[in-house]
Formats: sequence, structure tokens, C-alpha cells
Amino acid sequence: MDQRTRIRRTTSAAALLFALTTAATACAAVAGGVEGKPGAAGLRDPYFPRLGNGGYDVTHYDLDLDVDVRTGGDELRGTATITARATQDLSSFNLDLAGLDVTGASVEGRPAAVNRAGSELTLRPDADVEDRLREGRTFRTVVHYSGAPRTITDRDESEEGWLKTADGSLALGEPTGSMTWFPGNNHPSDKASYDITVTVPEGLTAVSNGEQVSRRTAGDRTTYHWRATEPMASYLATVAIGRYTTKSSRTPEGVEVFTAVDPKVARASGPVVARIPEVMTWAAGRFGPYPFASTGAIVDRREDSEYALETQNRPVFPGTPSTGLLVHELAHQWFGNSVTPETWQDMWLNEGFATYAEWLWSEDHEDTPTRESFDVAFANDLNWAFPPADPPSAAELSAPPVYGRGAMVIEKLRQAVDDDKVFFALLAGWAKEHRHGNASTEDFTAYAEKRTGQDLGELWDTWLYGDGRPEDPDAQVTP
Ligand code: TRP
Ligand code: ZN
Repeated sequence: MDQRTRIRRTTSAAALLFALTTAATACAAVAGGVEGKPGAAGLRDPYFPRLGNGGYDVTHYDLDLDVDVRTGGDELRGTATITARATQDLSSFNLDLAGLDVTGASVEGRPAAVNRAGSELTLRPDADVEDRLREGRTFRTVVHYSGAPRTITDRDESEEGWLKTADGSLALGEPTGSMTWFPGNNHPSDKASYDITVTVPEGLTAVSNGEQVSRRTAGDRTTYHWRATEPMASYLATVAIGRYTTKSSRTPEGVEVFTAVDPKVARASGPVVARIPEVMTWAAGRFGPYPFASTGAIVDRREDSEYALETQNRPVFPGTPSTGLLVHELAHQWFGNSVTPETWQDMWLNEGFATYAEWLWSEDHEDTPTRESFDVAFANDLNWAFPPADPPSAAELSAPPVYGRGAMVIEKLRQAVDDDKVFFALLAGWAKEHRHGNASTEDFTAYAEKRTGQDLGELWDTWLYGDGRPEDPDAQVTP
């Protein structure tokens, strides 16, 4: 709508004044040939409408963090350099940031006006650089910030964000926590590459995603530089600071395996951590080539986190994982980390597939057919609280139906296909089709129908979208 229409439609005096001010600003911009508009403050995710921001696409984050590690709570100083491409002509745009103090910001090298409201950080670039934020152009934003990074308690009572551990700190970001330690477009749909540089007291190790670029000690501080080259969703970014025994090796396929293990858990976790190459080889055989340059694990103490997380390249485990949990988190690298949900409603695409990977591992290594794992899940009342494609609220995004019923959907698909060659080609094909991208539930159902040539509508209606447990576990199998 043009400015005149906008003014005509506004009614109250305040709104009129606002419209006139906006019109004046727009006119000034028009003189320079640009009529930018503010980027949206959220991406309308069905569960977190304010997460993420509109108007741009981040291509790269360069995060430089100096962490004063303290038992009672860390102090952090950070600089985030964000390279993004405008998807509209922008007059201002938002980043997500929870807590911390913004001490300065610039866009394209010129100081930007900063405004904060809740976890929305609004940056208004200098008028001189407004033409650098036209649709399609790439621009650079620098945010300087500091403070005590916070922990977020999720709707399901679990903790994420910046956590204190026995000997340091751990950043976990699913679904929203990354905004506690860096400003960004905090939604899974905007993936980017990352350089993460962390300076810590000498003697502590800082581990992050991707591959280690360098480690330098100056005075009593050590700086670790990590680089994740392949696209990564913000919820998969991590920093783990503490005393770790680190090891680097390679899988038979030549993928780097970097592990960081708390010495207190080293002995107990040794045997399972040593199975990472074997699991990687197996998973690549089932799901296709590994999509990242490195793998591994971060193993902290049991009490350091309430759950494991599939942080990119190297998942985090609180204490010694079972082989099943190791398989689960490594399978997420294909399903979740490379093929990433379009919105948080598509969470079952992560958890259903990772759970199904555990079932497949048991089938291949423990003589337990996936059909038996399905039967156990079918009998479990917890799995029937709601359909996996439609969690009732954000409090249920990590609830049993997302995992168990999600995996049941894949097993029903296997039964419907009734040809393992076709079924496994479909799984690997799904990973390949959306490699390093995003996908929705509808993308998956359409893909499965295209690959099989079958109308699977009843299967989805019953197992993916339907309420309650069907009478018959064999329902809707029509090979
Ligand atoms: N997504 C994680 C996994 O599957 C687990 C997880 C993350 C979780 N946040 C959670 C589980 C909150 C329960 C509650 O490994
Ligand atoms: Zn999982």
C-alpha cells in the first residue's frame, strides 16, 4: 500500500501522527531511491510466533566471545558479526537476544540505533547506508554485547540457554536458547555457517561446532576458534567450556571425529564413545553420505544437563550415553541437522526419524525387528496423548508421541512400501533431497507418495494426524 492509502486508513490522531512521521522518513529515503520497511519481528512459528525475524536471511555468523568463567554465573563479552542478505528493502530489522546488554551496534560500518523490547533487538541503520539494505543485497551487522548469559526454563520445565556445569559452562539451544548468548535470527528456517571464537581462562577448553581452526594462549587466556562451514540452525549451535580430555581421529570414511570428555566420565564413557566410527559407518550405510566435515561428542557429567542434544557435528551427552542414545543423536545429524524442520511443528521429523534410527540399529545389531520396537511403542500409553504432527502446545514438543508415534509413522511407511530396497532408498533419498535445507511435514508426505507412487492418505490420517490409538496395530497397511 502506498503512503497516501496508509494515511487515509489510519483513524486516531496518534496513528495519523505516526503515519505522517513514517511518510516523512519514507520520503527522505525515496530521495535516495529506497523505500525500506521494517523487517517483521517474528516468523509466525506456530509455537513461537516471535522467534526469528523477517526481511533478511543470515548467511554467516562470526561470534567472538570472551567468557569469564565463574561458579556463581559467567560474565560474557561478545561481538557478533552477522552477514545477511536482505529479502526486502529494509528500513530497520530485528535480531533475537534474551538478556545481556548491547553496548553498541553498526550496520555496514555505520552506528545503528538500538532498541530493545523483550527478546527483540531492533536495529535502525544509519540513513546513509539504507541503500545497502535493498532487497537482494548482502549487508553486515556488528553487535557488541556483554553481561551474564541466562538460562531459559522451557514450557516443559527443562532448562536450556547458558547452563553452568560442574567445571564450566554449556550452551544448549533447543528450541530457543541460542539467543541467550548471541543475537541472531533464532529460528530453524534460517540456517547459516558459523565462526565461533571463545576465549577462556587458560587450563579450560572451549569446544564448539565444526572444526577447530586454531588455539592460541596469550597471558592467562586461551582462545579457541571453531568453524562450522555447512549450514547450521541456531538451536544446534553450542559452546562447552570446562576441563575436557579431547581426542581427534577419523572414521573409516575419513570424517574427523573430535571428542571432548569430562575426565570424571572418561572411564565409563570410553567404550561407547569409541563406537562413534562404527555408528557413523552404519548410519551412512542406511541414510547416505554423512553431510558434515566432522563428527564426535561432548560428554559432560550426568548432572550438567537434563538431556542429550544433537548439537551440530558433536552432540552433547550428560554422562555416559547408551549405545541407543549415541545412535539417536548421531542420526539427528542427517535428520534434524542437515534436513531441518521448517517450523517447530515439524519436530517429529527430527525425533521420529532419530527414534526410528535406534529401532534400525537394534534390528541390525540386536536381532530386534523394527516391528517389535513398534509393538512396544504401540503398547505404551504415553505415546497416544496427541498426534505427532500436532503437539498441543510448546510444552509438548519433546513429549513421547513426537518420538514414539513419530517412529511408528516410519514403521507404517515401511510396512506400506513392503519392499526394503525401496524403503531404504526412500530414507536416504529424503536426506539427500533436503540436504542442508529445511523441510516440513507436508514435504515429507508428498515426497513419500511421489517416491512410492502410492496414495498414503489413510496412513497419514491414522498415524500422523489422527487422535488416539487405533484398535489394530496393522491398520491401514495396503501394500
Ligand atoms: N531433542 C533432544 C534429543 O532428542 C532432547 C531434548 C531437547 C529434550 N530438549 C528437551 C527432551 C526437553 C526433553 C525435554 O536428543
Ligand atoms: Zn532426538
